[in-house]
Amino acid sequence: MTTPMVTLYERIGGEAGVAALLDQFYARVLDDPELAGFFQDASLDKLLRMQKEFFGAALGGPQSYGGLDLSWVHSGRGITAHHFNVYAQHLLATLESLGLAADDVRETVHRISVHKNDITGEAY
Ligand code: HEM
Repeated sequence: MTTPMVTLYERIGGEAGVAALLDQFYARVLDDPELAGFFQDASLDKLLRMQKEFFGAALGGPQSYGGLDLSWVHSGRGITAHHFNVYAQHLLATLESLGLAADDVRETVHRISVHKNDITGEAY
């Protein structure tokens, strides 16, 4: 008998788990004085809806991301590698607070951080 593959997406709790993760993650991001200003004029409802799709797809869920091109949507906003790192630290802290296995925390941060260059427009 073979053991069915369980994706990272499923271990995080599927659609509801990813939604809870993003709600908590963005609460931290929006509460950070270094990051909050970037989101001042953003439509947070749309942003979170698109992020749920993006994270779902990135973590092995059934979603496919149908939003705007990441480079395009983040360019010209002055988002530096430092801002990205602060953002990624909030993701890490959120994942740790959810009590996920250390490997799943690491893998999730990795799957999101591979997009760093698109977000900052800088080389690694
Ligand atoms: C790998 C990390 C990131 C990913 C995957 C990501 C992904 C996304 C997605 C999917 C959207 C919505 C696109 C759409 O409307 O179709 C978005 C919008 C946005 N992101 Fe990011 N993002 C990341 C990092 C950041 C960082 C570090 C900042 C700022 C510090 C940022 C600021 C914004 C803002 C302000 C918007 C709203 C744009 C608008 O509608 O006015 N993002 N992001």
